[in-house]
Amino acid sequence: MNYKLHVNNISAYDILINDSYDLLCDKLLEIYGEKFKNKKICVITDINVSECQLESFLNVISAINDNVFAFSFVPGEHSKTIYTINDIYSFLIEHSFDRSDILIALGGGIVGDMTGFAASSYMRGIDFLQIPTTLLSQVDSSVGGKTGINFKEYKNMVGAFYNPKLVYINTESLKTLTKRDFVSGLAEVVKYAFIKNKDFFDWIKTHIDDIMNLNSDALTHLIYESCEAKRLVVESDFKEAGERMILNFGHTIGHAIENDCDFKLFHGECVALGMCCALYISKKLGNISDDEYESSIKLISDLNLPIKYVIQNKEQLFTSIHHDKKNHNGKLKFTILSSFGKATTTDEVSDELINEALSVLV
Ligand code: GLY
Repeated sequence: MNYKLHVNNISAYDILINDSYDLLCDKLLEIYGEKFKNKKICVITDINVSECQLESFLNVISAINDNVFAFSFVPGEHSKTIYTINDIYSFLIEHSFDRSDILIALGGGIVGDMTGFAASSYMRGIDFLQIPTTLLSQVDSSVGGKTGINFKEYKNMVGAFYNPKLVYINTESLKTLTKRDFVSGLAEVVKYAFIKNKDFFDWIKTHIDDIMNLNSDALTHLIYESCEAKRLVVESDFKEAGERMILNFGHTIGHAIENDCDFKLFHGECVALGMCCALYISKKLGNISDDEYESSIKLISDLNLPIKYVIQNKEQLFTSIHHDKKNHNGKLKFTILSSFGKATTTDEVSDELINEALSVLV
């Protein structure tokens, strides 16, 4: 089974979802024509992905291009800096890449964000392709054109909105992930059901075993529905002036928990906990029913995501929650459900209500 989605904002691109790389070369020839064969290609990845997936990926591309280079960096958030970008620029200059050449991001969110940022800025912009290999990057970061790096202690502080020419998702790459990494990605999947698609919530509920067993058709459908939800949002608000903020559902408290636990929990795990609180707040404000709230928490738990957490430092947690107020006229913008399957942002959530919501994690 394969799916194709077309994302149309500043520049249009397709998202292909398949259980192999079989469609990739034809797609590249469709986009670039025979000229693709003469371009230089730089596959950018991290050392973990390069150990288990780079060689087979290079074999695929080498069927239609023999000017392929590879650049790998040390995995992790600490590499997401201007220093790694410097190394990428140096590598591209050393190998005489020009504006007609192409970068390919093969890996998770960090690889995609950094490759996209390098592509947006090298020679004022060259093409890049997203080949996301983690669930999180397949359903979230590879779609929507956000690229960037961290600066000092500030996450994603420097970057650009810059679309890839193609997103190609091979569901087989999910089989290389640890169970915990995979499950962590499911938090963003279930988020789309809460904020955008009630029917998808019911579908997830009835396909938990298939999802956990990495059934190919189930994964393809799950990724399709997630990318479709994200497509609808980013097409209407590419630069996050309004609607795109609904994608932050569960993230305000989730990010604060990431800091509180000193990043011992994974991003998706923290988002799951943040969503439990945001669901509680949505219920308290009368936007979803008790049943909808209970079945939502049950689904998060049935997906093996955490619903309980011991807060280390509540004062610090509140400081983190209020951290990005400066971006919104001094007000905390909080994403809640306006009804089940629909989200909105509000600046009317009080600290008292957040505190009450945090107590559901105990
Ligand atoms: N990950 C949220 C966004 O792309 O806007």
